[in-house]
Amino acid sequence: MGAAADRFAMTLGRALYSMRAIRRFRPDPLARADLRDILDAARQAPNGGNAQPWRFLLVTDAAKRARLGELYREAWWAKRRDEGVAGPQDIPPGKSVRRSAMRLADEIGSAPAIVLVCATARGAGAAQSVIPAVQNLLLAARALGIGGTITTLHAVVDERVRALFGIPDEAQVVYCVPLGYPRGRFGPLARKPLAEVAALDAWDATPDWLAT
Ligand SMILES: Cc1cc2nc3c(=O)[nH]c(=O)nc-3n(C[C@H](O)[C@H](O)[C@H](O)COP(=O)(O)O)c2cc1C
Repeated sequence: MGAAADRFAMTLGRALYSMRAIRRFRPDPLARADLRDILDAARQAPNGGNAQPWRFLLVTDAAKRARLGELYREAWWAKRRDEGVAGPQDIPPGKSVRRSAMRLADEIGSAPAIVLVCATARGAGAAQSVIPAVQNLLLAARALGIGGTITTLHAVVDERVRALFGIPDEAQVVYCVPLGYPRGRFGPLARKPLAEVAALDAWDATPDWLAT
């Protein structure tokens, strides 16, 4: 087992039940050893055929974070436009996830680190293989008191993101994950009850032992 394993001493249960999306960060830089161990945990993830078609592009350089932040903001609003949302006036105050995602779009460039979780090939197969890795990454970060969230970019910024980081044509950026010590707290999570989401042996059969 790798040396990093012993550093993630938080119980798995605590990590699982408190790892909510963190979108506001303290400016404190993250220790290189922590960043290394977080990426080392990411590469332990299951993946199709053990091809490990991933590359974890860690961005800490302030100028590159700032530029990526500008591109992220443009991408976020491009996604909203695709949904028919033109601007902040279309996002009601009650939509708290949306509002906090909107704020992240303004602030992501000042997160102390951003990981571009990339696949080394194009296509859905390679992209799917990085999904477990990003969860590993976030759980490992959580165990070190570091928060983050999964985000995506948009085709409108793809070429410029590639140019900024030298990402080759055959690869793809799957997720963009800001990391930092939270301003605010981890968990608890707001999730539907198990009874609403779990079934036994047939789509709409939920026995009492699963429902309570
Ligand atoms: C595939 C995927 C894409 C996501 N994209 C974004 C995003 O673009 N911006 C963002 O702020 N959060 C994004 N999230 C985070 C979700 O909003 C978050 O996991 C969800 O609202 C639950 O939040 P909680 O874990 O804090 O309860 C994404 C999550 C997933 C799994």
